[in-house]
Amino acid sequence: MNQRPTAAGTNKLWGGRFDQPPDELFYQFQRSFPFDRRLLPYELAVDRAWARAIEKVGILSSSETQQTLTTLDAIAKRAESDHSWLDLSPAEDVHHFVEIALVERLGSLGYKLHTGRSRNELVATDFRMFVKDAAQDISRSLVVLIAALVGLAERTMGVPFAGMTHLQHAQPILFSHFVLGLAEAFFRDLERVSDARRMADSCPLGSGALGGCAFAVDRGALAKELGFSRISANSLDAVGDRDFAVDYLYALAGLAMHISRLAEDFVLFASQEFGYVMLPDEYSTGSSLMPQKKNPDAWELLRGKTGRITAAMISLLITLKGLPSSYQRDLQEDKEPLFAGHDQALAITQIAAGAVGATQINAAKLSAAAEDSALLATQAAHYLVHRGLPFRQAHEIIGRIIREAERARESWTAMPLSKLKGFSPLFESDLQRSLTLDSALASCDVPGGTAPRRVREALAAFHARLEQWTSSIA
Ligand code: ARG
Repeated sequence: MNQRPTAAGTNKLWGGRFDQPPDELFYQFQRSFPFDRRLLPYELAVDRAWARAIEKVGILSSSETQQTLTTLDAIAKRAESDHSWLDLSPAEDVHHFVEIALVERLGSLGYKLHTGRSRNELVATDFRMFVKDAAQDISRSLVVLIAALVGLAERTMGVPFAGMTHLQHAQPILFSHFVLGLAEAFFRDLERVSDARRMADSCPLGSGALGGCAFAVDRGALAKELGFSRISANSLDAVGDRDFAVDYLYALAGLAMHISRLAEDFVLFASQEFGYVMLPDEYSTGSSLMPQKKNPDAWELLRGKTGRITAAMISLLITLKGLPSSYQRDLQEDKEPLFAGHDQALAITQIAAGAVGATQINAAKLSAAAEDSALLATQAAHYLVHRGLPFRQAHEIIGRIIREAERARESWTAMPLSKLKGFSPLFESDLQRSLTLDSALASCDVPGGTAPRRVREALAAFHARLEQWTSSIA
């Protein structure tokens, strides 16, 4: 059974100057309705606004406007409940779909709505409205992800962590400080997503095909009715501009990259070698062969999806590169990557929030790793600095002590004071007291540092920032 819609007999939007119907394969090839049907709610909102706008300039009478608006509502209603209506439609694109439906119900009045306007501005408007809503959806789920990280930081407050650079033990920090560090990146994503939304928030309606509208429609009123805060300044630019979509995909690519980083950290920390975190059953899978296995598939897939989202951004940039000014049909290739990038970004943000929320730590393993005396080397150098030695020399002395301890296969922090004095007479009996994990943590007592009181401050600030974002997104 082939229910594929065909071109033959379709009342196209542009048939007048053609002798021949389009080649069937080509007609199917150039259709965008299978994917731009997702824009239908926006298209209908734009249609309603346009009906009112052209009523004001005398194209539609008030009764024609009423009939058109009522019919648009009926189309919206049927489209919501009857998906097969859309599946079987031969429409070329979402704009054509609405016109067919209007004409079916209103006869020739249905054709009047497309007065003074072009699909070029319609698609640009619909797409901008989609991106504005999509950005809100992503922002809301980003807030949930950040809240999950803040929850993890709170639950684990006080647990030390062997801080690393180059994946080598560096300095002790709090595990909560590490978690809040991950969360910080997602605040930047929120900023970028909201910047992209602001870029999309400009209404192209009234731009016509490229040169502007030949009827004196009130562009400001159209924009306002559709929730835009401003109108585009140049009609030619407005029909060809997809910068907002690139901006949005760039924001999503950054977000995906951050989720990938989070995922990689947790995959690593869940390995037997680290054992810092436990894999939650709800977000793990097993092996069909090895009974003992519990695999971090959620994190791995979250990391793995990043490629698609970055690819969506690159795909759109490549489509745009080399296009001349104004609308070109290539621009139809903007929608699938953006829809796909958005869907994946939303999914990974939601799954990441769930997985973070379900993650338990192994505090004993974290604490044991943080006891590594190597992590206190910087603290020891600072001890000498506080006694007047230039840091470079203090660094050199501690380095020699550690090398010597390594040779003797003993811990340098267990060296007797008498031996340490041989490296520097500045060492005193208070050394042991200042060379502890707690004092090392407490010493980084600057805003943004890992001193416990600073991390508690940061946690409080996170709550305030989350509240602010929540109210700005609503
Ligand atoms: N389906 C088209 C798109 O997505 C709509 C605009 C078509 N305009 C045109 N002149 N062919 O871009």
